[in-house]
Amino acid sequence: MSFEKEIGRRKTFGIIAHPDAGKTTLTEKLLLFGGAIQEAGAVKSNKIKKAATSDFMEIERQRGISVATSVLAFEYEGNKINILDTPGHKDFAEDTFRTLTAVDSVIVVVDVAKGVEEQTEKLVEVCRMRNIPMLVFVNKMDREGRDAFDLLDEIELKLGLRVTPMSWPIGIGATFKGIYDLRQKSLRIYAAENKQKISEAVLFDNLDDSKLEEVIGNEFAENLREEIHLISEVYPDFSKEDYMKGDIQPVFFGSALNNFGVKELLDTFVVIAPEPQPKESNIRMVLPNEEKFSGFVFKIHANMDPKHRDRIAFVKVVSGKFERNKNYLHVRADKKMKFSSPNAFFADKKEVVEESFAGDIVGLHDTGNFRIGDTLTEGEKMFFKGIPSFSPEFFRYINNADPMKTKQLEKGIAQLMDEGVAQLFTLEYNNRKIIGTVGALQYEVIQYRLEHEYGAKVTYENFPAYKACWVEAVDEKSEEFKEFKRIKQKYLARDKYNQMVFLADSSFTIQMSREKFPSVKLHFVSEF
Ligand code: G4P
Repeated sequence: MSFEKEIGRRKTFGIIAHPDAGKTTLTEKLLLFGGAIQEAGAVKSNKIKKAATSDFMEIERQRGISVATSVLAFEYEGNKINILDTPGHKDFAEDTFRTLTAVDSVIVVVDVAKGVEEQTEKLVEVCRMRNIPMLVFVNKMDREGRDAFDLLDEIELKLGLRVTPMSWPIGIGATFKGIYDLRQKSLRIYAAENKQKISEAVLFDNLDDSKLEEVIGNEFAENLREEIHLISEVYPDFSKEDYMKGDIQPVFFGSALNNFGVKELLDTFVVIAPEPQPKESNIRMVLPNEEKFSGFVFKIHANMDPKHRDRIAFVKVVSGKFERNKNYLHVRADKKMKFSSPNAFFADKKEVVEESFAGDIVGLHDTGNFRIGDTLTEGEKMFFKGIPSFSPEFFRYINNADPMKTKQLEKGIAQLMDEGVAQLFTLEYNNRKIIGTVGALQYEVIQYRLEHEYGAKVTYENFPAYKACWVEAVDEKSEEFKEFKRIKQKYLARDKYNQMVFLADSSFTIQMSREKFPSVKLHFVSEF
C-alpha cells in the first residue's frame, strides 16, 4: 500500500463522556465490530468507579490495566482505527485534556436519562476551543429518558454545539422500537431479547410507504413521519466541511449495551471522520504526509513493577513513518535516540512494530528521558505546540519527611511531574515547592508512589491558592510589572518550564489584579 494511502486510512479518535454514560461499553462494541475482540467483557475498563475514589490502591491496580487500554487499534473496512482512552474520572481530567491533543476527532457519549453532565461539559469545551470534529452518541435508549428533541436542545445549549441528527429513535425505554437511519434511509428494529445480534435493516426510500405501519405500528409510523419532517425543518443539513471545522456535530441514538445503533455510528464514522491532520509546530505547520517522521509525547505511563522504573512514553506520529532502530532527535534534550522495541497497541495486547504511520500511536520504553510535550524528529529543531497545562484546582506544599532521602525525593518528584501526574511550582522568594493537582486523590497517589518507587517520604501542608495564573507581561521592563512583582512577591512561582505563575487565592484577587495591572495578563492555561 502506498505511503499516502496508509496515512489516509487512519482514523485516530477519543471517546469522551461523564463516568457511567457508557464509554467503556461503546468502546467494546466498536472493537467487536472490528473483530478485535470476540466477546463482550474482553476489554477491562480502566475507569475508576465512583465508589472507589477513596481507595488509591484500586487506582494503582487500574493504572496497570490502563496501559493496555491506552490505545485500542483495530481494522474496519479498510480503515485503521485508533481509539485513545480518556479517563472519565474528574481527578484525571488533565490526562484526558492531554490525550485530546493527540486525537483527530472525538465521539461524545451522552446518557439519555441524565442528559449533559459536568465532565462532558468540560471536555467538550476543550474540544470546541480546538475545533476538533465531534460526533455525539446518545446512549441507553432502552431506558426511560428525555424526549429526543429536548435532549438535542440541551446539548446545543449546554455544550454550545450545533447538532444535526443522523439517526432518530422510535420510542424510548419500554416502548423503544428502533432507530431510523437518516443517511441510509433505513430502519433497524430493536429486539430486547436478542441483545447481541444486530437486526437486518429495512430500507425505506419513501417514509410514506405503508410498509412502515406494518413494521412499527400506526402510532409510531405517524410520529416518525412527523418527527423526520420536523428534523428537516429545524436542523441544518450535514456538511462534511462544517463538521471538519467543528461547526456542526452529527448526533446518533442507540444503546451500546444492546449493540444497537452502534453500527450506524461506526459506518458513518469511517466515512466522515478525519484522517490524520496537520499540526502546528513553533516554526511551521507539519503535514501528515511529509516524508520525514515527527511526533510528540502526549502521555507517559509508569509501569506497575516498582523495581523497574521504566515507563512507556506514548508518541503520536504527526508526520511520515516511525521506524524501529532508526535514529531520531529528541529535540528538547538535543539527543539522538533509537528505539529497539517500539510498541503498537491492538485491542487487548501490545506488540513490537517495525513501522508506524502518521496518525498512529507508538509506545516507547523510557528510562526517564521524556516529558509530556517532548518532540521527536529526524533532525529538525522544532517542537509541537498545543500541549498546555491547565490550572490545577488543589495546591499543597510538599515537605521532605526523611532528609536522608533528599536525592531520591527530588528524582521522584521530577519523574512524576514529567509523567504529568501533577504540576510542580517553586515559589520564587523562598524556593519552597508546591504541588498542584486537579483532584485531591492525586496527593495520595504521589505520596504512595514516592515511598514505594523511590523510597522517599513526604508530608503535605495546605497552600491557600485558588488558581494558578500564567503571567504574561506586555512589557517586562515596565514600572507596572515591577510593581506587580513587588506586591505579589509571596505568590509568584515558576513552573517546570520556568514560566512565571501567580498563585492567586481567590477569583476576587485575580479580578483586582487585572484591574490594577492591565498590562500584566493572567492566563489559566500555560500556552497563550
Ligand atoms: P463508562 O465507561 O462511561 O463509565 O460507562 P460504562 O460503559 O461502564 O457503563 C456504565 C453502566 O451503564 C454499566 O452498568 C453499563 O452496563 C451500563 N450501560 C452502558 N450502555 C448501556 C445501554 O445502552 N443501556 C443500558 N441500560 N445500560 C447501559 P453497570 O451496572 O455500572 O456496570 P456493569 O456491571 O454492567 O459492568
